[in-house]
Amino acid sequence: MSNHPLDPLSAAELSAVVDGLRSSKALDHRHLLSMVQLHEPTKSELDEWAAGRELVRAALVTVWNREAALISEVVVSVGGEVISWTDVPGAQSPVLAPEANEALAAAKADPRVAEALARRGIASVDQVHMETWPFGAQIPAGLDDGRRLIWTPMWHRPDEGSNVYAHPIGDLRVIVDLDTSEVVAIEEDSLIPIPATPAPYRARDTNPSVALKPLEITQPEGASFTVDGWRINWERWSFRIGWCQREGLLIHDVAFDDNGTVRKIARRMSIAELVIPYGDPSPGAYRKNAFDTGEFGLGNYTNSLTLGCDCLGEIVYLDVALAEADGSIREIPNAICLHEEDFGILWKHTDELGHVEVRRGRRFVASSIVTVNNYEYGYFWYFYQDGSIEFEAKLTGIVLTLAADPDLDYPSSTEIDPGLLAPYHQHIFSARLDLDIDGVENSVLEIDAVAAPMGPENPHGAAYTTRSTLLATESAAQRVIDPFANRYWKVVNPNRLNHVGAPVGYKLVPGHTTYPMAQRESVIGKRAGFMYSHLWVTPNNEAEKYPAGDYPFQHEGGAGLPEWTAADRPLENTDVVLWYTFGTNHIPRIEDWPVMPVERVGFHLKPVGFFRRSPGNDVAPSQPKHCH
Ligand code: CO
Repeated sequence: MSNHPLDPLSAAELSAVVDGLRSSKALDHRHLLSMVQLHEPTKSELDEWAAGRELVRAALVTVWNREAALISEVVVSVGGEVISWTDVPGAQSPVLAPEANEALAAAKADPRVAEALARRGIASVDQVHMETWPFGAQIPAGLDDGRRLIWTPMWHRPDEGSNVYAHPIGDLRVIVDLDTSEVVAIEEDSLIPIPATPAPYRARDTNPSVALKPLEITQPEGASFTVDGWRINWERWSFRIGWCQREGLLIHDVAFDDNGTVRKIARRMSIAELVIPYGDPSPGAYRKNAFDTGEFGLGNYTNSLTLGCDCLGEIVYLDVALAEADGSIREIPNAICLHEEDFGILWKHTDELGHVEVRRGRRFVASSIVTVNNYEYGYFWYFYQDGSIEFEAKLTGIVLTLAADPDLDYPSSTEIDPGLLAPYHQHIFSARLDLDIDGVENSVLEIDAVAAPMGPENPHGAAYTTRSTLLATESAAQRVIDPFANRYWKVVNPNRLNHVGAPVGYKLVPGHTTYPMAQRESVIGKRAGFMYSHLWVTPNNEAEKYPAGDYPFQHEGGAGLPEWTAADRPLENTDVVLWYTFGTNHIPRIEDWPVMPVERVGFHLKPVGFFRRSPGNDVAPSQPKHCH
């Protein structure tokens, strides 16, 4: 049994939950498990638990009834008792692995598909890699009757181990009903040549020869962090690692020991959605607008990490477990990597007498990597010795590809090999940040740098100041970045003043980001309405977890942040949640081929007036043998 209410569900608990559901006869052949997540306690339940009150640990099971086309949300205790059952009419299940496999089998077994492939010189469906993609755009007329549909982009695999993405079949797609595995349409366009240039990347095929001498990371006295279950203590930081089938890696209960006083900073931080809108209107591309979190369950695709390759140094790994759609339990060993990294100098000064003070900085890293079809996403949370936190997504893997019709132009794609296109697209993340700065009651301010025109207020022309605007309501708190104003957002606790009388706070510092190119009235624009503001602020509601709503698959749009914030709830001096939209506009480069070097996007959380001095000042100098 678990020792903390926020610990991820263990394999044994998941088994008991599934068995309980089965023995209650609530499940039969019609049902699939869309998602099994920890039924997270609310903040007040956690407080009561901390005060000694008993808390029923439970799973939130999302059940999909294929026959009735009905989602039900079922709360089941980890003892297997069904606590509540709520139907959610109109909601559609994310894509589940058994359905995807059955859909692919149906597409491959269809003789019309084999014939169409033969017309393209492909003798066997076994030489074809097909993927199941949700319709991220209009469903073709006549098929739009509410069925759950997927379509299958496909690639030729000339040899075992070929990089299939080098050989897209651009003129053939199969549409399959996910619930019945029925092939409902085959879309065959006029023939487009299959790009033929191989793009190997396995060491076996490329014999890479650029090598450096070994670099060993050793910590002879061991690592400086402790892991107690899912709780981490490192330096003055403490926090809990969480994990969920939908969001993957999460961070709970972040606090910093400020000279003996443990001060809260965040209650829960997650990457709550990831959507990738594609910008090429070609038949094989315009529908590729997938919600990797909400339509697939990002955590399902978590890698088992390997020492020396994915992570270097003194590593502690955490294993996770998940329930598959058929109720079987799958464990993922080494799913989360915990380690420390040298991070260059933390600070330095040489004074007027020539005296040098320098401190080396280190950071703690919690990370996890997923593979969703062609792409890898690494989620990296960093904790620093200056009291700051950073999130970084590492994007790698293989860009999606299209075959070029030689008679057409492709202004929305990069040609990366002859006849091989990589369509423009955006990777757009939404971080849900439930910050609790020295307590739950906080306010959010927008800070802009502003310069007055030349005149009495600015006689020399170089003066500037900052303008601080309280984001008092949800409608006022839908904001975009402004690099020209050096804009940032500050979460303050108006009830806690620092030594100069200002409220203590942390700021959200935007990094590199992007703005959606899809029109708001497009299918993806409506479904991912959260993309159109970089910042949203809501009063904390534990039921509001996913910015595009709980069920984005084939949703008509408008769910999540746009819907909740229509209430225009007040935000001042309350329990606020920040939602930060960030990402990258990916105009593929030829050098992103065949496997894209890691691209990084993210944001920082930095203390502003939270501490009395830089917490980095308390860091001891390195031992002389390590610094000479
Ligand atoms: Co990309």
